[in-house]
Amino acid sequence: MPASLPNALDAFWMPFTANRRFKAEPRLLARAEGTRYYTPEGREVLDGTSGLWCVNAGHTRAPIVEAISRQAAELDFAPTFNLGHPKAFELAARLAALLPGDLDHVFFANSGSEAVDSALKIALAYQRARGKGEKTRLIGRERAYHGVGFGGISVGGIVKNRMHFGGMLTGVDHLPHTHDLARNAFSRGQPEHGAELADALERLVGLHDASTIAAVIVEPMSGSAGVLVPPKGYLERLRALCDKHDILLIFDEVITGFGRLGAPFAADHFGVRPDMITFAKGVTNAAVPLGGVGVSKAIYDLMLERADSPVELFHGYTYSGHPLACAAGLAALDIYRDEDLFGRAAALSAYWEDAVHSLADARHVIDVRNLGLTAGIELAPREGAAGARATDAFHACFDQGLLVRVTGDIIALSPPLIVEKAEIDRIVETIRAVLTRLD
Ligand SMILES: Cc1ncc(COP(=O)(O)O)c(C=O)c1O
Repeated sequence: MPASLPNALDAFWMPFTANRRFKAEPRLLARAEGTRYYTPEGREVLDGTSGLWCVNAGHTRAPIVEAISRQAAELDFAPTFNLGHPKAFELAARLAALLPGDLDHVFFANSGSEAVDSALKIALAYQRARGKGEKTRLIGRERAYHGVGFGGISVGGIVKNRMHFGGMLTGVDHLPHTHDLARNAFSRGQPEHGAELADALERLVGLHDASTIAAVIVEPMSGSAGVLVPPKGYLERLRALCDKHDILLIFDEVITGFGRLGAPFAADHFGVRPDMITFAKGVTNAAVPLGGVGVSKAIYDLMLERADSPVELFHGYTYSGHPLACAAGLAALDIYRDEDLFGRAAALSAYWEDAVHSLADARHVIDVRNLGLTAGIELAPREGAAGARATDAFHACFDQGLLVRVTGDIIALSPPLIVEKAEIDRIVETIRAVLTRLD
């Protein structure tokens, strides 16, 4: 066994992993650069998923590596409770400038899950601060992924992530999901049908009354559920209904933020303005964990004005605005700007769309969908074994030197924004070859 391999796999209880299968047939990554991972044996694996939808500028980018290392030597940690350090303020200001419209304030957390919990708590505290403390209900959506905190799984809509964990938050309801293969299969970009599904919010208002509803949270494009692209007009309708009923709208942009759709945020891409945006992943190019919430000026100002004690929000994490994360975030934002990576993603998206839709006639494929530099390739499930075919495809792709992500029977793709056309071709050819051989 090479010296770099751990000599025992047992102790690490791996997250969202079939531990027994993995430990019987481990797949290890030892090194990464640009669009490539390398196994401990030195085998190259093309990263078709930006790690976990997060390494948007490609791996081990030198300016980020240097920024983290300089920061670790200069100021390793500083509390942000009643103290501050310059890079936290600098990063918040840079993010406020990048966030759409009047989302001018940033609350820092360490992950997408914490970002979501923070946004839900801010929504509740805001309603209370403005004298509408009875507005406590939170509305999520079926098939949504909002991380794994109790707030996130409560508003989330993935059954396996919810069913094992008891009653979760009370006072939560869900919109229907928008995935509709009967009407929208093989859509290029936003599907035509389904804007009316937003009207389910009217029914929830009819059931609970708007006076009890604090906020609606949705991923503007669902990533983890398998790239579910919102139907044309759907998000606009949701925004209008939230306005009509005085309900906050939160976009969870943990995946869609930082260029994934060819714009800074999905809110820019769709031209729909939420009241809060949660972010994580790409903010530091995943080099150091960081998450956060972009908050509108209206919410921030009111919370500060109406606070009933000197501390306006009783919420925060030891590592909110951690110096290493802020240094990584600033360096990542520089790369995105200097290399115009969001523009690059937009320019590549037509090539990407043609490439992934060329898989429409590949074996087992029942849908191909795409937006920006994402794609979902849905496979027909095996009789009585949902998810097994895509899991086998994941293993076979890895063995053929391609990292993909699977969820259920969907192969989800999201390459780094620096991906080259020849690499896109390789992604598609590898998947076709794997599907051809797969039962
Ligand atoms: C939309 C969305 N929200 C929240 C999360 C949770 O982020 P984390 O795993 O950093 O807690 C994810 C992770 O994929 C996500 O896709």
